[in-house]
Amino acid sequence: MSQSPSTTDQPQTTSGDAANGQTASLPPHDVTDLGLAAEGVRRIEWAEREMPVLRLIRERFEQERPLDGLRIGACLHVTTETANLMRTLAAGGARVALCASNPLSTQDVVAAALVAEYGISTFARRGADRETYYAHLNSVADTKPQITMDDGCDLVSLLHTSRRTELAGVLAGTEETTTGVIRLRAMAADGALEYPVVAVNEARTKHLFDNRYGTGQSTVDGVLRATNILLAGRRVVVAGYGWVGKGIASRFKGMGSQVAIVEVDPIPALEALMDGLLVKSAAEAAEWGDLFISATGNLNVFRGEHFRTMRDGAILANSGHFDAEIDLRRLLELCGGKVREVRRDVQEYDLGDRRLYVLGEGRLVNLAAAEGHPAAVMDMSFANQALAAEYVVRNHEKLEARVHTVPADIDREVARLKLEALGVHIDQMTPEQERYVSSWQEGT
Ligand SMILES: NC(=O)c1ccc[n+]([C@@H]2O[C@H](COP(=O)([O-])OP(=O)(O)OC[C@H]3O[C@@H](n4cnc5c(N)ncnc54)[C@H](O)[C@@H]3O)[C@@H](O)[C@H]2O)c1
Repeated sequence: MSQSPSTTDQPQTTSGDAANGQTASLPPHDVTDLGLAAEGVRRIEWAEREMPVLRLIRERFEQERPLDGLRIGACLHVTTETANLMRTLAAGGARVALCASNPLSTQDVVAAALVAEYGISTFARRGADRETYYAHLNSVADTKPQITMDDGCDLVSLLHTSRRTELAGVLAGTEETTTGVIRLRAMAADGALEYPVVAVNEARTKHLFDNRYGTGQSTVDGVLRATNILLAGRRVVVAGYGWVGKGIASRFKGMGSQVAIVEVDPIPALEALMDGLLVKSAAEAAEWGDLFISATGNLNVFRGEHFRTMRDGAILANSGHFDAEIDLRRLLELCGGKVREVRRDVQEYDLGDRRLYVLGEGRLVNLAAAEGHPAAVMDMSFANQALAAEYVVRNHEKLEARVHTVPADIDREVARLKLEALGVHIDQMTPEQERYVSSWQEGT
């Protein structure tokens, strides 16, 4: 899909140096159209209603200013929920610069609102080409961040490669997603990671809810918005039965689809079977399925040998972090370049005897064709982000340059606040129970 920006606001290199009087007081930015800001504000406020935990944290941050004067560089999906995280960090006293972690997930109305209404430096345009994407990452690096906040490790990678001069000033970072954590662990194992990073993805209040229920629902949403197909009775193949795959499979099953799982690890494969799903090899599934969704964090999961046997009209989508899970280069070769967009976010590859359809250019379908996770789920992920930022600011001197987990008390506090906001009560152990579970002497 090639969506070109409708206007061309030039990046403002320093706050207040704009030649254009109207933007003179705005922070540095590069967004599609500042005129979209009012709609962005309405949508950010709508999301905020579903984010009570983040709102409570923002209110505390306003009082305590735990991030006072700190420069935070963030590379996240530019959505309404991210906007509420940026507002929270700014309320804590941080100077924040944001760029997109994926060119197709950017909501232009949100980018405009962040700049024009909330004074947050934002570099993001939906549909940005590769060059612009990296220019935006570099614009964030230009602000010399002391804390990095990543979704997929692109900012950390940039700072460890072409922008190493900025590395010395970085105190610590946080990482949002599974793929980013895998990349960071690989860097740490090579001795290449030069500052501590907290893996927000590892918090239970993140992956159990965001990866599973958030991606599950929003993947269904992305597929429906792009195609408007009936899901009942449809044969859906989900590659990967990790947290994301489990969520996607359960949601499609709930909509009446027949679901088959493709795995490389026998344990989740067995789990899928016992969850009542079909388990097939990718080759078997290719012949069987109508809709294929990858969620593995791996490469070329659906590839040439599978495209050859897929039925006419088969649809392919990806919910894993990178657009590498469907081998689109091979698909393009197989169809001799005969590709056309038949609906917004639906590309038809004409193989002669059959046509295959790819959603959102193989990028995360829930963000490319829908709006990403519902705000109520991002509330917990971003509460972890905000509290992890506060934690690394307080503790960076004690933390080694490796990947750290979110402290258990932060994780539990996020869940406690969420339950409180939902008006749900749980029990506490009685003193007798406390003694029982912590004693080795008590038994039958
Ligand atoms: N779309 C979104 O909004 C969103 C949200 C969260 C995470 N993610 C991304 O989704 C991906 C999966 O995340 P997760 O938390 O489920 O990870 P996970 O590690 O829990 O699960 C991945 C699963 O894929 C399997 N797998 C690996 N290679 C495979 C292959 N070639 N064929 C079949 N299965 C294979 C693994 O065995 C594993 O069970 C990551 O890239 C993550 O960053 C996307």
